Amino acid sequence: MSLTTNAKLALLTRLARRETAATAAPLPKDERAISWKDLPNGSDLAVVHEAGAALGVENPYFRVHEGLADAETTIGNRQFINFASYNYIGLNGDARVTEAAKAAIDRYGVSASASRVVSGERPVHAELEAAIAQVYQAEAAMVMVSGHATNVSVIGTLMGPRDLILHDAAIHNSAVEGAKLSGARRIAFAHNNLKAAERELVAHRARHTRALLIIEGHYSMDGDLPDLEGFIALARKHNAWLMVDEAHSLGVLGPHGRGIAEHLGVDPSGVDIWMGTLSKTLSACGGYIAGQEKLISYLKYSTPGFVYSVGLPPALAAAALASVRVMLEEPERVAKLQANATLFMRLARAAGFDTAECCGMAIVPVILGSSLVAARLAQEMFAAGVNVQPILYPAVPERAARLRFFISSTHTEAQLRQTVEIMTEAVARVRKMKLLGQ
Ligand SMILES: Cc1ncc(COP(=O)(O)O)c(C=O)c1O
Repeated sequence: MSLTTNAKLALLTRLARRETAATAAPLPKDERAISWKDLPNGSDLAVVHEAGAALGVENPYFRVHEGLADAETTIGNRQFINFASYNYIGLNGDARVTEAAKAAIDRYGVSASASRVVSGERPVHAELEAAIAQVYQAEAAMVMVSGHATNVSVIGTLMGPRDLILHDAAIHNSAVEGAKLSGARRIAFAHNNLKAAERELVAHRARHTRALLIIEGHYSMDGDLPDLEGFIALARKHNAWLMVDEAHSLGVLGPHGRGIAEHLGVDPSGVDIWMGTLSKTLSACGGYIAGQEKLISYLKYSTPGFVYSVGLPPALAAAALASVRVMLEEPERVAKLQANATLFMRLARAAGFDTAECCGMAIVPVILGSSLVAARLAQEMFAAGVNVQPILYPAVPERAARLRFFISSTHTEAQLRQTVEIMTEAVARVRKMKLLGQ
């Protein structure tokens, strides 16, 4: 459908007026009459979908990959260079990892068939936890069925209404949801701004029983790093716990992929709660916490998402365990990933793209400042054989809409160079479309 210039402008004005935290409209009396638009953020989402359809931008979500999604992938029987999967060091598809999962299925079946507390425990759970604890030189670790649920349930369990949670403004949604669940006072401080975090601690710490500072080891949207040493010192100074989410750091940062502490040469014992996921580098599914023995034993008996949820499927635990071993034994994979990401970041910057504060380790954002431009650019690139996910409002503020490239150790230099060339040509075409009246 094509729109008149006036209709486009009206649509764009509506887009620009959207509020960040839309609230739900009052429920209609007849519950069955509830429409999408009555639900939280529903009207906002509807505007985005409507605008996309009206301006000829295809829905970039729920694309079906027909095989292994690695540096290349097959969608609709067509081959693409793929940047939308976080198979950082190519372990999803590695024969040792798949064989470990198959052997676990042969032995235990596909499910743990119970919560680990009550008969869902298998030897591979403890082996995986020991391997993860060892990565952080921690006393113990715990694994759960979902990375997202790990943050929600663990933060929700540890903190309570009399406590204070300070988190980086760019923290992942799962930590925010956990903080909300806890009932603690929750304050977001400006992204990667140690001074802003300190100001909040000075202003609020004394009124709360316990305090938790939450940061990421490698930020999932901007691909930048925190000042870990600074945050450890801040946590000690204000008697707070420090939690670091390593979802995108494990297998990515440090010479052996042990994460931000190894990358910066910081003693990992300064962090009270290491958190991460099994779904990225470790090519399985699930989340983990590593720290002191007493913290882990407490969590294993009290975190609802652990106690009242099924144990991690043994095959996934076995896949994650095999992945940790390969990661530690083959540091050349991590080095290749880092070299690839740095090359891609440099090429993109040289071509004039804004890659924000990205450090060139695995995640490279290309900031476009408009959801429509980002979605349209992704569509043009898809047509040219590159699969990259646009990140649109409300996942990020509208001015921060972007393409996000997940780089892998398995990408070739030729693929990286070709992609930047394709993006350079495509963005010129998109800018000419004057989608936003620019
Ligand atoms: C920083 C961060 N933490 C937690 C999660 C949740 O992990 P999972 O997808 O494994 O549930 C993600 C997922 O992308 C993430 O990026």
